[in-house]
Amino acid sequence: MSITKRFYDNSAAGTLVHIFTLKNSKGTTVKITNFGGIVTSLMVPDKNGNFEDIVLGYDKLSDYEKKGPYFGAVIGRYANRIGNACFELNGAEYRLDKNEGENHLHGGFIGFDKVVWNAEIVTRNGAEALELVYRSKDGEGGFPGNLDVKVTYSLTEDNALVIDYYAVSDKDTVVNLTNHSYFNLAGHASGNILSQKLMINADKFTPVDKASIPTGELVDVKGTPMDFTKMKTIGQDINADFEQIIFTKGYDHNWVLNTNGNLKEKAAEVIDEKSGRVMEVYTTKPGVQLYTANFLDGSEIGKGGVPYYKNAALCLETQYFPDSVNKKNFPSAVLKAGEKYNHTTIYKFAVLK
Ligand code: BGC
Repeated sequence: MSITKRFYDNSAAGTLVHIFTLKNSKGTTVKITNFGGIVTSLMVPDKNGNFEDIVLGYDKLSDYEKKGPYFGAVIGRYANRIGNACFELNGAEYRLDKNEGENHLHGGFIGFDKVVWNAEIVTRNGAEALELVYRSKDGEGGFPGNLDVKVTYSLTEDNALVIDYYAVSDKDTVVNLTNHSYFNLAGHASGNILSQKLMINADKFTPVDKASIPTGELVDVKGTPMDFTKMKTIGQDINADFEQIIFTKGYDHNWVLNTNGNLKEKAAEVIDEKSGRVMEVYTTKPGVQLYTANFLDGSEIGKGGVPYYKNAALCLETQYFPDSVNKKNFPSAVLKAGEKYNHTTIYKFAVLK
């Protein structure tokens, strides 16, 4: 595996931004920019050895800077929503950016997806890896504590994109980091993902209210359109007459993973039978957000001038559950001062035999 670095563009604020290309001996190639830690391209082979770019994105840095779907980005300090954009910690109330109505979404007005990270090519387990470092200052987005964050991307010889997240804070705080790649295993320009198949290793999900804030319940998926315990096409139940799906115009929920932090057990799997491409997801996190790109409407013009429409991709964002900072029964996203936040998520690619 090798990593090369090239100039991408200057950010609006005049900072030099680069693109790093990670390539293994199989020809699998991942491009990542140190603006937002964004995965801008991911070329993986199909069953006949043909490579296709399977993530949505833009050509220009200025589009990543201006636009809002979080294509490919690192999300932080807190992935997904926090109800009423506030939470309490150690008896103090923290008021966060209200960047989605009354609520907080994906880190606020300037989340980790909209900042320039320091990038370095390092050696990890005998292979090169891309290390991205960012200091989120005390009070940024409303969160307490200076938070030093490190996200390390590596690509293995067996086609796994490994993302290691690390953070440490000088005050008690909350942290929930994820990656927001939009995957379409048939190719980013191929249309919708409704005929692709999905398995999520979860017996429960966390229902939401009309504003997509979890109600706090953990509900069985059995007998509902939310059941992905057995592989089914994403389109099978996506238009079901089911309140949760109506609220979010498709899937946009957190599943409670049965894997419970075990990186060795499969958390989710996507199959595109036509191309034969397969993606497996492994994670140390307790939850995963399945988002079926419900809010894309053709107005986002992506790479190569391709308009992205509804359901053009799916995101599998591994995470603590949304709004866990206000839900005592959800696994806690609190990070004590000096404690280490360490998580890993793996997206592993293969082909059907
Ligand atoms: C959220 C969606 C949101 C999308 C970003 C997902 O993680 O769950 O509701 O629209 O990110 O655009």
